[in-house]
Order: sequence, then C-alpha cells, then structure tokens
Amino acid sequence: MGSTEKKALGWMEWLRGWLYLLYEMLFQRITASHLQNPLPLPPLNDLTCIITGSTSGIGLEVAKQLAESGAHVVMAVRNSKAAHELIQKWQNEWSGLGAPLNVEVMEVDLLSLDSVVKFAKAWNARLAPLNVLINNAGIFSIGEPQQFSKDGYEAHMQVNHLAPALLSILLLPSLIRGSPSRVVNVNSIMHCVGFVDTEDMNVVSGKRKYTSLVGYSSSKLAQIMFTSILHKRIPAEAGISVVCVSPGIVHTNVARDLPKIVQAAYHLIPYFIFSAQEGSRSSLFAATDHQVPEYCGVLKADEWPVCALISHDCRPMNASEEAHNVETSQKVWEKTLEMIGLPADALEKLLEGEEVQCKYGLNNEE
Ligand SMILES: NC(=O)c1ccc[n+]([C@@H]2O[C@H](COP(=O)([O-])OP(=O)(O)OC[C@H]3O[C@@H](n4cnc5c(N)ncnc54)[C@H](OP(=O)(O)O)[C@@H]3O)[C@@H](O)[C@H]2O)c1
Repeated sequence: MGSTEKKALGWMEWLRGWLYLLYEMLFQRITASHLQNPLPLPPLNDLTCIITGSTSGIGLEVAKQLAESGAHVVMAVRNSKAAHELIQKWQNEWSGLGAPLNVEVMEVDLLSLDSVVKFAKAWNARLAPLNVLINNAGIFSIGEPQQFSKDGYEAHMQVNHLAPALLSILLLPSLIRGSPSRVVNVNSIMHCVGFVDTEDMNVVSGKRKYTSLVGYSSSKLAQIMFTSILHKRIPAEAGISVVCVSPGIVHTNVARDLPKIVQAAYHLIPYFIFSAQEGSRSSLFAATDHQVPEYCGVLKADEWPVCALISHDCRPMNASEEAHNVETSQKVWEKTLEMIGLPADALEKLLEGEEVQCKYGLNNEE
C-alpha cells in the first residue's frame, strides 16, 4: 500500500522505471520475435470498433487491419479529410481482394470535452452495439511549453487520459449492447516514470516543475489507475473487459515535435524501433484475442485491483509499483469524474440503464 503523503516517485522506483524503458527499447524486437507481422487476425465480420486517432501511426494500422479482417470500423478523428483520403486509398488497395471495407469517419477533438460528449451522444443515438472501443489517440509534445485545453486542463492529461475516460464511460450503454465488449487504452511503458498528484493534475502548483515528460508520463499513469478502478467496478455480468496496452517504442508521428537532430538519431536506430505495423500488434491482440476477457476475469477476482496490461509482445505485463497504489487510484477515479463533469455514481447509473448528465456538451452547437 502506498502512503497518502507521497509527493513523488521514490528514486528506486524512478530508476526502475527508466530501466524498464531502456530494456523495452533494446530488447523489444527480441522479446516479440515469436509474433508474426502483421498479426494474423480471425474474420471479424461481426465486430464494430471505434478507434480514436486513426489517421496516423499505430491507430491507422489498427483501423486498416481490423477493416481488412471484416470489422465495421469507425475512425474517430479530428481531421476527417485525412481519414476520408485514407479510406479511399485502402479501398483502392483492397479492391478485388474481398467485399469493400466497412469504414466510416466520425469527428472528435479530444482537446474539447464538449466534442467528446457530442461524439458519444451521436454514437449512442444509433442504438447500435459497440464491441470494441480503442482509445488510441495521444500526444507527447516533447520540448513544447505547457499547454492547456479550452476546458482548462493540461493538454497531455486531457488528450491521453481525461477525454478517453469520458468517452469510455459515456459509451457504456453501447458497449453493454455490444457485450461481450472491450475497451482498449493505448498506454505506454512511460507510465513507469509517471507520478500523479491528484491535488495538482494540471502541474501548475509549482510543487513539480512541468516538462512534457512529466505531462505525458503522469497522464499515462493516471489512465492505468483510472482503468483499474473502472475494471474493478464493472460487474463481470456486464461482459465489458477494460485493458491497457503498451505498444513498444514505435516509429510514428508521435516524435513530430522532437528537435530535428533527435529525429535524425531516431531514424538511425530502426533496428530497435518498431514500425507502426509492429506497434499495432498489442492493440489488435487486446481487441480481438479470445484469452483477453478470461484474463480480465481472473484479475477482477483479485483483491489487488490493477487492470490488465498487455505488453508490446502481446503478453501480460505488470504495471509499475505506483500503479498498484490503491489509495491514489481511488483518488484518481474520483478526481477524474469531477474533472470530466460526471457525477460520482455515473458508472453505476449507466450500468443500470439510467441516464447521466455531464457538465460538458450541454450546448449542442459546436
Ligand atoms: N510511438 C510510440 O513509441 C508510442 C509508445 C508508447 C505509447 N504510444 C501511444 O500510442 C498512441 C498512438 O500514438 P502514435 O505513436 O501512433 O502517434 P501519432 O502517429 O502521433 O498518432 C496520434 C493520433 O492521435 C490523434 N490525436 C492527437 N490529438 C488529438 C486530439 N486532440 N483529438 C483527436 N485525435 C487526436 C492524431 O491526430 P492528428 O493526426 O490529427 O494529429 C493521430 O491520429 C498514443 O496514445 C501514444 O501515447 C506510442
């Protein structure tokens, strides 16, 4: 059990976190050598999947491969023009190989909680089942000054944790309709160097100096903590598995903000870094493998409420020691609900089929 007074990661935890990161970077290709690339998928014609951030990197690969396996794919993106262009390209490449891909685009900007609510309302209004939600979109604004969303939250925290949390909860009615269903949160090994101060989620108090690393790693840890409580609170009968994945160190646009010289170095070490297709395997595995719900069920029965975390090599991995801090996880749960404008009993109400009112998205004109 962690102490409520903890102000930062202990230096041993911090060092261990960096060693995990280094280990993943150096050995991910070896530890994942048993995996095929692309990951073979079964026919998925009965599956409806929403994937956020599917215009680039890991999300793009996930969306394409799910669609090619027959799933109905909803690209939840902020740049719908780019998404439509991709669909056109995929359809052209796919023509003659099977039925046209079943892909559509819906707009959502995770920097706006109004936009998230609007998206969820539009999807729920279809009264259609949702089988898989992949919260993939994320930012790591390396070296950039601290930024805030129009909702007033630190940008990494909002895009990587708060907005996906709101989306997951608001889509519960559709996930229940699509049960057995899954929520897959694309997390990161960097959660191991993160620390969440629930009194200072925006890193503005001056207790910690803000850097993009602090913003990113805290948001990823907050997501695991929140998911753990969500996982524990959803009754097994609801048939919804919630999982986090660590995709590995992957060559994507996530490095777009790196200084040019570091980007050049990044290109020089392709042996160590996964391609986006290799990096998509853990998300695809978490979204489709039949063992995942069983594994989540086993963890649910555990006294220690940590959600399933799937590694870059599609094996279960342990979240950081700090992610096991039950008191902080509970606080992260409460604080998150407050920040995303939901009542404390939102989950229970939605599970019972009742409506909940969110503070955001009340004004329907965008
Ligand atoms: N690459 C890695 O080494 C690595 C390692 C661990 C974890 N991850 C995680 O993997 C996930 C995918 O990242 P990636 O590496 O594939 O990066 P990426 O190529 O930069 O893709 C990120 C996607 O998120 C979207 N996005 C960003 N801000 C958004 C917003 N406000 N609203 C809606 N969509 C938004 C982007 O859309 P635009 O194109 O419109 O900006 C893009 O489609 C992230 O959660 C990241 O943290 C990546």
